[in-house]
Amino acid sequence: MNYKDHRSIRSFLPKEIDANVLSELLTIGTRASNTGNFQSYCVIVTQEAAMKERLAPYHFNQPMVTQAPVLLTFCVDYNRLEVWSAARHADCGHLNLMGFYNATLDTMLFAQNVAVAAEEHGLGYCFLGTVLYNLEGIISTLALPRGVMPVLTMALGYPAEKPPMRIRLPLEAIVHYERYTPFTPERIAELYHNLETAPFYQEQVRKAGCENLAQLIMEQQYSRATYEKLSAELTRILQKQGFTL
Ligand SMILES: Cc1cc2nc3c(=O)[nH]c(=O)nc-3n(C[C@H](O)[C@H](O)[C@H](O)COP(=O)(O)O)c2cc1C
Repeated sequence: MNYKDHRSIRSFLPKEIDANVLSELLTIGTRASNTGNFQSYCVIVTQEAAMKERLAPYHFNQPMVTQAPVLLTFCVDYNRLEVWSAARHADCGHLNLMGFYNATLDTMLFAQNVAVAAEEHGLGYCFLGTVLYNLEGIISTLALPRGVMPVLTMALGYPAEKPPMRIRLPLEAIVHYERYTPFTPERIAELYHNLETAPFYQEQVRKAGCENLAQLIMEQQYSRATYEKLSAELTRILQKQGFTL
């Protein structure tokens, strides 16, 4: 599969993923570069229907949660590193913001390697950021101990759909050579033209009754109020899981 063809898959065939295939994907995941090669992450594999049912409400009952043969919840994991350090008389001083930030980077690289490998194997996936909206429910359902924080979940399986590819911004909006070049409103209008006029997004803007796509995304879908509430919650739960901020 050419990675330029990527699209998220939210509907899956009722076909199991062979244990060897899953193991191969996870092995490729762990080949991702990671800070200091101490692999401050883990993944919880959910395959039992009953566990998927328990997790579903924490993912706002998105149908793919119970439909996908496998859910992978990628987590920051300092629990294992604390046990290892204690057993070797070493001080693990990573349960802080720096440790969390670093481990989150490594967790995402692990997850993205799994994602690329999955598509190469003819599988499809969709990431679920809903983990961050319901951290406590996910933590208790998956029995995540001190030092372990969920980062995101992936619904994984054989695709039962081939949705159109979603448009991206042109490279000029993303890439700066040598120095960052700030944007003028005129340049933004050029760079966002294709996104703002795409039928997929125009339909969403119309349905939501917003004036434009920026209002839909920044004020309705991912609003300041939500982000501020979730920031406070993230701080509280990080502390509960043993991180000092
Ligand atoms: C961190 C993260 C969280 C996401 N959460 C969800 C989600 O909860 N539900 C969903 O349907 N898609 C989710 N997605 C998928 C995005 O909506 C999707 O990647 C984006 O719209 C671009 O579409 P594409 O992947 O098909 O190119 C998530 C993606 C990422 C990277």
